[in-house]
Amino acid sequence: MFEEKTILITGGTGSLGNALTRRLLKEGAKTIRIFSRNESKQIEMESTFNDDRLRFFVGDIRDSERLFSALEDVDIVFHTAALKHVPKIEYNPFESIKTNVIGSQNVIDNSLRQNVEKVICIGTDKAVSPLNTYGATKLLMEKLFVSANNYLNREKYRTRFHAVRYGNVLGSSGSVIPKFIQQIKANQKISITDQNMTRFSITMNDALDFILNTAKLGKGSEIFIPKLKAYNILDVKSALFDLLHEVEHEIIGIRPGEKLHEVLINEDEMKYTWKIENMYMITNPHYDLFNDKNLETNYPNISKFDNQTAYSSDNVEKLSIEELKKVINDSNLL
Ligand SMILES: NC(=O)c1ccc[n+]([C@@H]2O[C@H](COP(=O)([O-])OP(=O)(O)OC[C@H]3O[C@@H](n4cnc5c(N)ncnc54)[C@H](OP(=O)(O)O)[C@@H]3O)[C@@H](O)[C@H]2O)c1
Repeated sequence: MFEEKTILITGGTGSLGNALTRRLLKEGAKTIRIFSRNESKQIEMESTFNDDRLRFFVGDIRDSERLFSALEDVDIVFHTAALKHVPKIEYNPFESIKTNVIGSQNVIDNSLRQNVEKVICIGTDKAVSPLNTYGATKLLMEKLFVSANNYLNREKYRTRFHAVRYGNVLGSSGSVIPKFIQQIKANQKISITDQNMTRFSITMNDALDFILNTAKLGKGSEIFIPKLKAYNILDVKSALFDLLHEVEHEIIGIRPGEKLHEVLINEDEMKYTWKIENMYMITNPHYDLFNDKNLETNYPNISKFDNQTAYSSDNVEKLSIEELKKVINDSNLL
């Protein structure tokens, strides 16, 4: 699907953007356009990759005209650009509205104007019944993406939009495991917010497999969610103590806007949730692709996901300490 394609990644210099770029180059992409603001990060990425299939576009997704020119002749867009740090966003909420909401609408509008084939945005469990501004802006981004197909004349426009939604990417910028590793190596106390905290977890490789798989499967307007295990924060502590050495820990208390557990599909969404292969799909009730007859024709091996309760990090299988040690080792975080 990606061979000989021109692909644009908004936020291409980020953790996911770098990993996606590496994978898509292997998949035979013709050109990958990296679209982001910070020129220094682009220069670093350019020299790390040293691949003439990469093009670097300095630009801000808040700037619609810039996106319009960058999207010319593009086949596929991965929309990963976002402001994502919860405390920063709580302090500067409107900045995240400008980037995560208005910027996302700019990506949609200009992908349509340039007749891009497929546009995929990267969502988060924090968008489900959101407690913080980050989650609320990512919920709106999802809503914009799944409704972007509503008004399309499908004969006239080939563009299809869909969203993916998953939990914490192990080791991504600003995440807890690299922070703990840094504290342990510096022989500092590690700071645990709450001993009962659980989080969904996905490795970068699994996130890439999942995103690319949805790119092949998506017909437009879906939210795809992978089947994930979760971890308990105390098990992360034990795994890291086994892998490195023990230090003291302190309980700092849950921060404003943080939840004790995250939810990937809430109870109300279950009504529209289906199971396909190793993932879930939430359908858009306003889109005729999803009436019962069309569903079975469009998606192979689909079945209804009949969960009565929310798909939440406190009620799914947990990664054991041994599994955590393996994923941390395999992710080269140490
Ligand atoms: N990391 C996770 O655990 C996780 C989990 C679920 C979902 N997600 C979602 O996955 C996506 C990628 O996350 P990540 O961890 O790769 O984030 P990241 O490392 O912080 O990267 C974000 C990227 O977006 C760019 N960016 C930010 N504002 C921009 C703007 N206004 N215009 C253009 N580019 C902009 C940044 O570059 P510049 O600053 O140079 O512009 C950077 O390249 C995000 O949408 C995030 O919400 C992440």
